[in-house]
Amino acid sequence: MKPPLALLAELTHRCPLRCPYCSNPVALTRGSAELTTQEWARVFDEAAAIGCLQVHLSGGEPTARRDIVEIVGAAHAAGLYTNLITAGVLLDAALLGRLKAAGLDHVQLSVQDADPAGAERIGGMKGAQERKESAARFVREAGLPLTLNAVVHRQNLSSLPRLVDIALAWGAARLEVAHVQYYGWALRNRDALLPTRAQLDEATRVVIAAREALRGRLVIDYVVPDYHAARPKACMGGWGSAFLAVSPSGNVLPCHAAESIDGLVFPNVRDTSLRAAWEDSAAFNRFRGTDWMPAPCRGCAHAERDWGGCRCQAFALTGDAAATDPACALSPHHGLLAEAIAEAGATTFRYREFG
Ligand code: SF4
Ligand code: FES
Repeated sequence: MKPPLALLAELTHRCPLRCPYCSNPVALTRGSAELTTQEWARVFDEAAAIGCLQVHLSGGEPTARRDIVEIVGAAHAAGLYTNLITAGVLLDAALLGRLKAAGLDHVQLSVQDADPAGAERIGGMKGAQERKESAARFVREAGLPLTLNAVVHRQNLSSLPRLVDIALAWGAARLEVAHVQYYGWALRNRDALLPTRAQLDEATRVVIAAREALRGRLVIDYVVPDYHAARPKACMGGWGSAFLAVSPSGNVLPCHAAESIDGLVFPNVRDTSLRAAWEDSAAFNRFRGTDWMPAPCRGCAHAERDWGGCRCQAFALTGDAAATDPACALSPHHGLLAEAIAEAGATTFRYREFG
C-alpha cells in the first residue's frame, strides 16, 4: 500500500462567506465539535509518519480558527508542506506575517467573480472583493506564492476572461479555474450552477487561449465539469490511494465528501491512529483497487485509469456508492446527467448556512 501524498485538514466549517457551490456537507459541523490545536498537531505528526508530504489547510475558512498560527506551526514542525486555502476576508498583513513566520509555504485564495457586485452576490458577503484584493497584496508582500482559485459555474462563466485579468493584476503565479463539482451544498444548488454545453465550450476556449498568451507568466489549471463528459474523472486518484481528509470533528475520510455516503463508518482521530485508519479501516478498504467493481467497470480497459470515477457522485445520483459513476457513458445511469443539464437554469440559489 502506498502512503497518502496529501492531507486535507478541514479545520472548521465556520466561514464568513456563504457560497452556494460549497462542497461542505449540508449538515455543517459546529465549532464546539472541532478538534483542538493539540489534536491537530497529533494528526500532522501521524500524517508525516505515514509518508504524507503536504497538508492543505481548509474549511470552511481556516483563518476563522483563532489558533491558525499554532496550527500552521504544528504542520510545519511535522515536516509537511503547508498550503492555506482561504477566502482571504479575515487576513491582514500582521496575520500573514505571523503565518509566514510559523512556516506557511503557500496561499490559495478564492475569488467568486470578477466584479465586486457579482462576487458579493455569490459569496453572500458585502465588501468581500476589496478584502480579497488586499489579502492578495499581503500575500505578495510577505513573499509567499499565491494561487488564485476561481470556482466557475452557470452564474459567473461569462466573467472568465476578466478573472484571468484579476489573477495577473493580483500577482498570482497560478490560476485554478475549477468548474463546480456537485457535492454537499453544490449538489443542492445544482439547478442554478450547472453550465450549458455552450458555456463549457467557451470556457475551454478562453482557458486554452489564455494559457498560450500567458505562457511563462501565469500557469492555468483547469478542472472540467464531468456532467458534460463521456468518461469520469479519476476521483482522488482512486479511493484510499493518494489522499486523505480529516473533517473538523476528526473523522478520517478518503475524500472530502465521503460522509455523504450512507452505510460507511469512518474512523475518528480521537480513537484511531491515522495509520490504522489509512491501512486497516473498512471505510478506506471498501473501494480500494478494482476488486469491488461491478460491471461495466469490472474488466474495463480504463479501470486502473479512472478507478470507476467518483464514489460520492455514484451514491448521490444512483443511491449506490459501488455503481459506475454516471459520468461514464458506459454507465446505465449516464442519462441522469443529460436530464440534470436539461433541467438546470434556476436563477436563484440557497446560500450555505448552518442548519
Ligand atoms: Fe471507467 Fe468504469 Fe467507465 Fe470503464 S466502465 S471507463 S472503468 S467508469
Ligand atoms: Fe468522494 Fe469523489 S468526491 S470519491
